[in-house]
Amino acid sequence: MSSKFIQTSDGSWTVRSGEGVGQLMHTMHGAYGETLHVYGRAINRTLNQDHGLAPRFLIFGLGLGYIEMTLAAQVLKMRSEGKRVCDSLELVSYESESELNQRFVNWVYGDLEDSPESRHFLDAYESFELRIANEFSLSSTSQTPRGYLRELHHQGRWRLPGAFDRNTEVDQLFDCILFDPFSPAQSPEIWEDEFLLRFLKICAAPTSIFATYASNARIKRALSLSGFEIHKEPGFSAKREFILATRSSNR
Ligand SMILES: C[S@@+](CC[C@H](N)C(=O)[O-])C[C@H]1O[C@@H](n2cnc3c(N)ncnc32)[C@H](O)[C@@H]1O
Repeated sequence: MSSKFIQTSDGSWTVRSGEGVGQLMHTMHGAYGETLHVYGRAINRTLNQDHGLAPRFLIFGLGLGYIEMTLAAQVLKMRSEGKRVCDSLELVSYESESELNQRFVNWVYGDLEDSPESRHFLDAYESFELRIANEFSLSSTSQTPRGYLRELHHQGRWRLPGAFDRNTEVDQLFDCILFDPFSPAQSPEIWEDEFLLRFLKICAAPTSIFATYASNARIKRALSLSGFEIHKEPGFSAKREFILATRSSNR
């Protein structure tokens, strides 16, 4: 996998991966800002809801791990405020590029190899972590977002099974789905009706929340057919809207 790092307009890093023109992971208007804008609220709502203290999160597209760090920072913030702590929180991150999984997990354990390419990843991870820690005022907490992810991984509560494809089976339902794949132009198979409907059927808990940067007809149709109520939210920067959808078992 070839990777070219690019600084987005809020100073955070994104990466263009693959051959030729490649695929950009985040908006050039701000990778940091977009992550927080699109996924922060769904994470917050899930953490503050009663899931028997065991909310289950699914992130589709680990990439640089920005959503994972955002989740970790929000948990640490709640802990620091003395709120009920999600001691049994579970997280599953799907990512098709094994190299991205490996690098991020290595970083989480402080084992990222010393190479020119790794240095770019290191910069991206560390600058995002620093910024999110500031955003959530974590300077006095005993744990960092990275440390929290290490704890989760070590305890088997954060798993990275690889790619999610049309044959993937899951062994649990998720309360919060943060859907961050490449766009339909880049990953058309993920946005097919059949794929989306099956994904929601096997992954979404009866009461669940779903967030994605995208707002195309296919995802809206799949969510509606799956019983979700769609809330169109103002998009980040130049984007018109993003989707936050909720489903309740009491419907
Ligand atoms: C928009 S980027 C995700 C950015 C990421 N959430 C972050 O915080 O940096 C999309 C990611 O989805 C991954 N991907 C593409 N197809 C996939 C699949 N079938 N299953 C899981 N991940 C996939 C890509 O390799 C890429 O890393």
